[in-house]
Amino acid sequence: MNSSETNDFLAISRGEAAVLMGGAWQENSWFRHLSKLVKKGFYEGDNESQLQLHRILNSIYRVLTVVPDPGAETLEGTPYIESIRSTIEKGFIDWLNDTCVLNGIVVPGETSFANWLWQFVETHPAATHQAYFEFLANRATIEDLRFYLVQESAIDASTDDFLASLQIGAPGEAKMEIARNYWDEMGEGDPNFLHSTLFSDALGAFSISNMEAENALTLEALICGNLQQMVGLRRNLFHIGVGYFGATEQLVPKRFEALKRGWERVGLNPSAAKYHMLHIEVDGGHSEGWYQNVVAPLSKRSEQVRREITTGALYRLVTSHIYLDKLLRDFPSQN
Ligand SMILES: [Fe+2]
Ligand SMILES: [Fe+2]
Repeated sequence: MNSSETNDFLAISRGEAAVLMGGAWQENSWFRHLSKLVKKGFYEGDNESQLQLHRILNSIYRVLTVVPDPGAETLEGTPYIESIRSTIEKGFIDWLNDTCVLNGIVVPGETSFANWLWQFVETHPAATHQAYFEFLANRATIEDLRFYLVQESAIDASTDDFLASLQIGAPGEAKMEIARNYWDEMGEGDPNFLHSTLFSDALGAFSISNMEAENALTLEALICGNLQQMVGLRRNLFHIGVGYFGATEQLVPKRFEALKRGWERVGLNPSAAKYHMLHIEVDGGHSEGWYQNVVAPLSKRSEQVRREITTGALYRLVTSHIYLDKLLRDFPSQN
């Protein structure tokens, strides 16, 4: 299956999808093909297969999160798209658990858990990755910064929708904190400060269209983006999502400080970096609030919850590290 076939995979009508789910559908050639791709991509380390799977998964998440044109038919809710989604997500989670090994990490009890997790994130190699603290800060060219922004669109462009989906079913105190964070994403009611708009402005300053960003995402950026969507959309991954987002927020201020140094060094217009400057200020408070009002109360529930929150943080740290390693190799000035 090449990338145009990947698109064909979802470019079918609901009627055709119903036919594909007929009879013993797991014996049908499309499903056998998908299963083979999952085996190669997630269990045998074939990057090309993994890229195709993450593109399909990303397209499925778009079906689930983007309002279609009025009257347009989508595959939303069909057993066909759900079977593809759950097959790929299962392989993805197995891959994550294989790649982000929790073995050997002693997760402490409820009284020290939140502080411990904070330290755990702070001291992980992803927290001081040289892609930010050495390359973007000291050496990146304007072209490198442009490339970086394209790849970052995999997660930054949809934090508001991630928070909106994470809060479904969240217990009271956690829901309140998610709401506060979400309200910040909404620019506290000022349309000029919507975070998604500010991020689009940063892309616009480099004439990067949404289409360009979608097509240029590397496998590693797609993994980060799909991870965020998966843990936001699936209720059984709620606690993983909590740990994931705690680690994400915690790393932002220092990373964007480094980016700011690079931005100023190459003489780019600071007004286009509003999104990043703003997050240097707000994400410190966001992560403090997250640890205090989401992580700490939830961690009192059980050891299982503490392990899942830790797993989510680890998923973020490891996938971010892999992504930043890849960025370092791919920056245009390095090739
Ligand atoms: Fe934000
Ligand atoms: Fe934030």
